[in-house]
Amino acid sequence: MLDAQGRSIDYVRISVTDRCNLRCVYCMPESGVKPVTHGELLRYEEIVRLTRLLAQLGVRKVRITGGEPLVRRDLPALIRGIKAIDGIEMVCLTTNGLLLKEQLSELLSSGLDSVNISLDALDETAFEAVTRRRGVSMVLDSIDAALCSGLPVKINCVLTELNERQLVPMAERFLSDERLALRFIELMPIGLGKTLEGISPETVAALLSEHFGKMTPLEKESMDGPCSYYKLGELPGRLGFISAVSNCFCESCNRVRLTSTGFLKACLQYEHGVELKPLLQGSDETILSAMRSAIWEKPKRHSFGTRGGEHLERHIMSQIGG
Ligand code: 5AD
Ligand code: SF4
Repeated sequence: MLDAQGRSIDYVRISVTDRCNLRCVYCMPESGVKPVTHGELLRYEEIVRLTRLLAQLGVRKVRITGGEPLVRRDLPALIRGIKAIDGIEMVCLTTNGLLLKEQLSELLSSGLDSVNISLDALDETAFEAVTRRRGVSMVLDSIDAALCSGLPVKINCVLTELNERQLVPMAERFLSDERLALRFIELMPIGLGKTLEGISPETVAALLSEHFGKMTPLEKESMDGPCSYYKLGELPGRLGFISAVSNCFCESCNRVRLTSTGFLKACLQYEHGVELKPLLQGSDETILSAMRSAIWEKPKRHSFGTRGGEHLERHIMSQIGG
């Protein structure tokens, strides 16, 4: 369906848990967040029902996020349920990769269409500085396993002061593989993202060009979303930038978010949206009409970098799902 700005909303990001086996500094504190209780969490049947209703409103693509989605039990069962919904064309997953390899074959048979793996560093010390845990080799093994299986894979890397020295090695390793896209994500000042220094995409572009040669823009494709892709020198992989802050793409935003407790969130940065969980006892029609108004009232754009705003998001990223 269209929102009030005329944007077509066809994509939902579904957070299935706020728990995570890492503690990335821009996403979660080391301790002290009270995790959502079992009773507050949407059950898989409920997620499938809500997704079916969103599909009736025109949603075609689903991304499963967290926290870390693979820490929730039997995720493939949910994916199977969502894949069976009329109108849903793609079900994708965003994961930190730690548990991906061991769950890969089940995920493949559930019909998963692609995976985005978050990795901010190749060096274990830098990885630990970002995630407060160790585990690079597990993530790299998962990336290899996913690539070998033929699943489309993208690597997402958040740009912070903690991984600046990792960017050239990451480009070298991942862009040498023609099957891969490596996407640099500008740090967003949301939740704990406010406590850290980011690196500007321009700085990174200059650094990479100096090392590998010219960046040539690639033609925009329909599934690119907010990412701009480039060829870097002679490297065969695709280099991407998602610059939400310095290059606002709200005008073409096509997404809504469903949190693990059933809040349908219209925009990453604002608290606008509707609690769907209390409506689950009621009819599909009641839920649909709540979804329609939440989507219709989707905020026009974010206001990163400006002051004020009483509706600004107060949750941390692990509770929203990125
Ligand atoms: N800014 C940018 N990206 C973030 N992510 C989490 N917090 C932030 C932030 N403040 C990313 C994760 C993951 C995706 C789900 O969101 O690294 O790639
Ligand atoms: Fe976990 Fe992803 Fe948040 Fe890191 S960014 S703590 S991997 S949910």
